[in-house]
Amino acid sequence: MSHGHPHGQHRNPEDLESYIARMEDPERASWQKPDEVLRALALAPGQLACDIGAGPGYFALRMARTASHVFAVDVEPRILQALQKRIAKSGLRNVTPVLGLDDDPLIPEQACDLIFVANTYHHFPDGPAYLRRLARSLKPGGRIANLDFHRRELPVGPPVEHKVARDDFLREAGAAGLELADEHDFLPYQYFLVLRPR
Ligand SMILES: C[S@@+](CC[C@H](N)C(=O)[O-])C[C@H]1O[C@@H](n2cnc3c(N)ncnc32)[C@H](O)[C@@H]1O
Repeated sequence: MSHGHPHGQHRNPEDLESYIARMEDPERASWQKPDEVLRALALAPGQLACDIGAGPGYFALRMARTASHVFAVDVEPRILQALQKRIAKSGLRNVTPVLGLDDDPLIPEQACDLIFVANTYHHFPDGPAYLRRLARSLKPGGRIANLDFHRRELPVGPPVEHKVARDDFLREAGAAGLELADEHDFLPYQYFLVLRPR
């Protein structure tokens, strides 16, 4: 999932078609391990999950197999169109695409059991402010999971200078009033952190 250059809107590559194709590339499963990620998220029936920066739905559609409902938020209308097509093809009726603002996902407050952010944190204009906004959408007991590329040269993912290191992310999450609740280390290229309000 090399992101390619140059960058366009929302820190996305300009060539959105290839970007979407890379996100949905079946080969991605070898390192992205979506089934293991879903198992680790431990969603339960009855829960509302929110996928922020959902892209064409790589994780959102999988979450919808267990969660009662998924809000799939993205800021790029053309990517949401690709998501809509995938929802239609899948037959799933419990995924709602949401066109968010750059600094606000436009999801309800105190609503989500799980807020999931994958490979997207570095796109937010102000990370800590965005995390504070996400925390307001958590139900009591809810969690925010952040999965992202380690800040080093890797065969996949964005250029190193766009990445946010695990420790830097955790520092910013701490500034946003979140603490580490759990961490999974089965992914070869990414950290996978679960946070809760302090
Ligand atoms: C690298 S993709 C990751 C997509 C998906 N999470 C995945 O792992 O397959 C990043 C996505 O975040 C979206 N994005 C960029 N800025 C955003 C923002 N401020 N709020 C929500 N989504 C954003 C982009 O349009 C893009 O679809």
